[in-house]
Amino acid sequence: MAESRPRVWVSQPLFDDLVGRLAAHFDVHATESVTEHSPQAIADALRDSAGALVTLNEKIGAAQIAEASHLRAIANVGVGYNNLDVPALTAAGIVATNTPDVLTETTADFGFALLMATARRITEAERWLREGQWQQWSFSTLLGADLHGSTLGIVGMGRIGQGIARRARGFGMRVLYHNRSRLPDTVERECGASYTGFDDLLGRADHVVLVLPYSPQVHHLIDAVTLAKMKPSATLVNIARGGIVDEVALADALANGRLAAAGLDVYEGEPAVRPELLALRNVVLTPHIASASLATRRAMVALAIDNLIAALGEGPQAGRPPTPVNPEALATTAGITTAKRQGA
Ligand code: GLV
Repeated sequence: MAESRPRVWVSQPLFDDLVGRLAAHFDVHATESVTEHSPQAIADALRDSAGALVTLNEKIGAAQIAEASHLRAIANVGVGYNNLDVPALTAAGIVATNTPDVLTETTADFGFALLMATARRITEAERWLREGQWQQWSFSTLLGADLHGSTLGIVGMGRIGQGIARRARGFGMRVLYHNRSRLPDTVERECGASYTGFDDLLGRADHVVLVLPYSPQVHHLIDAVTLAKMKPSATLVNIARGGIVDEVALADALANGRLAAAGLDVYEGEPAVRPELLALRNVVLTPHIASASLATRRAMVALAIDNLIAALGEGPQAGRPPTPVNPEALATTAGITTAKRQGA
């Protein structure tokens, strides 16, 4: 009887030509159209799977893996992985992987684009023009804030934060950053960035960009209290995760002149966007697309597939997925790989 191949679930349509690589190793169950999977549907899809290729849409915790006795690897297509309960996966011996590095520059480009659009009111200006409101050129139309010569505060100075700092340098900005830990001198010099406390950064920055990973500890890091520490003329950009910002407090500050403008790519309840935000003219809203260049989205999927194949003990990197987030869970997979090589 032919040996059955491990089953792999692909949660969303990705790039067919890349996903096709999985078929050389696995019995692939790919989702054909963009789907909002219920928590139970995710549990059902994982129940008989050895691995899964998932996106930030799929929240996977203890309940989703409770009956997934064959599950050994989850490859997340994204650098952020707050959709995964990593401790629960690790406890079950399931390797989780993400896609860092390949999206750094594209995401930093977008963070900068969102900052520029927000400070210079680009989308607001376009809406105004399309509405036919441009009757006469005037000196005082749509006055915005400069980037050059201003102070940028970056909260979260990982790879993407550093990419934004390098861009800001080219724009003649002073760069402050706040991070869990201070970066080595060499990196600070290369980015032209100075480390400071969170409150000091909020008080001094003309523009604040949030690019830190989400965890419960940073839930609503930006709320009414911290917003009050920012300059009323400042802009706030969030390309991290929606839960970092209390959107009700933000909308209130924007509506009442306590903050000049905001640029948001991520939302607490996405894809739903609060009506309070939609009603404001001084907020630029984009649908979580910071890494969405064609080349980068393909590179993310390719890396996630490399991770999945390797984590499931196949291919040239068997047992050594390039970017695990819980390498401690690899011990279990390594055991399986060795056993497989020995023909067990
Ligand atoms: C997108 O938000 C990602 O984490 O890659």
